[in-house]
Amino acid sequence: MKVLTIIGARPQFIKASVVSKAIQETDGLTEVLVHTGQHFDANMSDVFFEQLGIPRPDYQLNINSGSHGDMTGRMLIEIEKVLLKEQPDWVLVYGDTNSTLAGALAAAKLHIPVAHVEAGLRSFNMQMPEEINRILTDQISSVLFCPTDSAIANLAREGFNDKPIKVLQVGDVMQDSAEFFAQQATQPQGFELDDGFILTTLHRAENTDNPERLAAIVTALNHLHANLASVVLPLHPRTRKVIAEQGLTLNVHLIDPVGYLEMIWLLQRTGLVLTDSGGVQKEAFFFGKACVTMRDQTEWIELIEVGANELVGADLRNPLILIADRAMLAA
Ligand code: UD1
Ligand code: UDP
Repeated sequence: MKVLTIIGARPQFIKASVVSKAIQETDGLTEVLVHTGQHFDANMSDVFFEQLGIPRPDYQLNINSGSHGDMTGRMLIEIEKVLLKEQPDWVLVYGDTNSTLAGALAAAKLHIPVAHVEAGLRSFNMQMPEEINRILTDQISSVLFCPTDSAIANLAREGFNDKPIKVLQVGDVMQDSAEFFAQQATQPQGFELDDGFILTTLHRAENTDNPERLAAIVTALNHLHANLASVVLPLHPRTRKVIAEQGLTLNVHLIDPVGYLEMIWLLQRTGLVLTDSGGVQKEAFFFGKACVTMRDQTEWIELIEVGANELVGADLRNPLILIADRAMLAA
């Protein structure tokens, strides 16, 4: 059986690293790997292939940047050509990016069954591009691999039990990758360790594309860094660009995006995680770190329910109160 896997963005490389290994080790399965090109900087793409032993993509579509419609449309056109040539039995997509939706849509239109990993997650905020991508992808998939019970419940609520779509609770592939690579954690080159630092990531559209929110977050991070603990921020290229355009100044410990092994090293040593990432919220939990999330909703509600994660939106005061009150910086 031939599985054609679509990847394109950083978290998808990390998810694919463990699933591709499993596919390689399964008799009777072959994988054709298609990289859309959505992420293209060496430290947003190549580094993960080198570090995590992901096979070299069979196709590199080099489609990146641009608006949602432009990027998704170009991906749809090019993925369809690959599907027609390869005639896979299944198409495998991960998560909720534009690459996910383009891959699923191209396959579904050709009546090729789609398997969606990280299905069923919902933030219930249709302003988020990820929410649109994941809802539509679930609708046109044939098998939904769900990471959590709440994802299963979301799909049940949306009537998936009455559809000819297989819904499976399979656990979280990001937990598999965190466990698999935990022993290989690597200190980022040239990184001087700051005591009790706060590991921060910031890139989600709801923060970067809203000038008031972004300014509030930048002010908060500068304040935290000056008054509480070093804020270590591997800066996503999207955020770097917007911060420059908005004329904002980040006075924190800025570093370039790091590889996954370096990210695990930072996660293992941080006192607190402050993020708007989906994946990093979970990794904080996997590595036993408290997490403050700069979003208004999260699809990983279990972490909120068990008290491992707090949603604070873009409000400067909340993270300060949380961090100070809970004395979380004990690393
Ligand atoms: C995308 C996903 C988001 C995911 C994130 C993971 C969508 C709609 N969003 O957001 O869900 O959380 O990936 O990191 O699919 N850029 C570079 N170099 C790169 C990659 C991006 O310079 O290697 C810049 C480009 O200017 C690009 C911008 O960042 O236009 C945004 O990139 P894009 O892939 O559209 O969205 P992300 O914010 O990365
Ligand atoms: N990550 C990384 N280097 C970084 C920042 C994040 O390897 O500099 C990893 C992180 O550990 C997680 C994944 O990228 O496994 C999360 O991706 P991201 O935050 O870009 O996207 P999201 O999960 O929000 O979609």
